[in-house]
Amino acid sequence: MMDIAHLGPAELLTPAFDESLRFFVDVMGMEVEAQQGGSAYLRAWGDYQRHSLKLTASETSGLAVLGLRASSPEALERRVALVEATGLGAGWHDGDVGRGPSYRFRDPDGHAFDLYYETERYSPPEHLRPSLKNQPQRYTGRGCAVKRLDHCNVLAEDVRANRMFATEALGYRLYERIELDDGTEAGAWMSVTIAAHELIYTADAYGARGRLHHLAFWVDTREECLRAADIFLDNDVHIEAAPSKHAIAQGFFLYGYEPGGNRIEVTTGGYLQYDPDPVTVVWTEEERRLGQAWRVKTVETFHTYGTPPVAGT
Ligand SMILES: [Fe+2]
Repeated sequence: MMDIAHLGPAELLTPAFDESLRFFVDVMGMEVEAQQGGSAYLRAWGDYQRHSLKLTASETSGLAVLGLRASSPEALERRVALVEATGLGAGWHDGDVGRGPSYRFRDPDGHAFDLYYETERYSPPEHLRPSLKNQPQRYTGRGCAVKRLDHCNVLAEDVRANRMFATEALGYRLYERIELDDGTEAGAWMSVTIAAHELIYTADAYGARGRLHHLAFWVDTREECLRAADIFLDNDVHIEAAPSKHAIAQGFFLYGYEPGGNRIEVTTGGYLQYDPDPVTVVWTEEERRLGQAWRVKTVETFHTYGTPPVAGT
């Protein structure tokens, strides 16, 4: 077992709070589990924790903090010690709704993370009680009806430095990466589980720091991904990339921008990595020129757009 069990909750900033909240509730099909201050705590029907997304009103967009749940109190201590040794630790705080003491640190690019172990398991109110006791919440089928938070792709000025921090200090396994002809690293796909990707770093086209590329929510089937595209379309959600399949990690995707400007993905598929000692797959510049799995070219904004916006772009 890895010291870090999984990622989440993620805190997303939005300059259009009411519209963003409507998007996550009505379009994505999530439930508001709590509201406090300028934040709403949202959950997907398959989340075992109380929430997987904290939506916070802000002057701008982007990722505020990414939570990482440790596998045990001892695993938490081990990872905190390793992060502290890098000099990137910021210290302990009390935690948040549904979550105990948390250790705040920043990756070399400046993204904030909270490492924690103590969490509250979700207890549904009567109207959300499921029929099956092995499911945390009733399946409502509203909107895209996303099941859980799946992965987070952040942008970085220096991909290699950040993925080395993630593998060495946090214990992530590096499953795939892109190496350009000049030797620079353009992307790194990492995981602490057998899921093909959970934490992804890709190069920031503007050389900016601390930005978000996208946050992805899981559905069980490709058909639900296609249905999500129809739902995005009829709810005036900007579709940046219609459903298709990535070459890297082989995830099936739909990308759109929520009203606050953040790129959100509805995802399924991807392989499972059972090899305990996998050889990292390295993609070359020439191979990447072929496009995605089915040779569809990625739209240009996918390589440049991130949140918050970079001044002057
Ligand atoms: Fe993704």
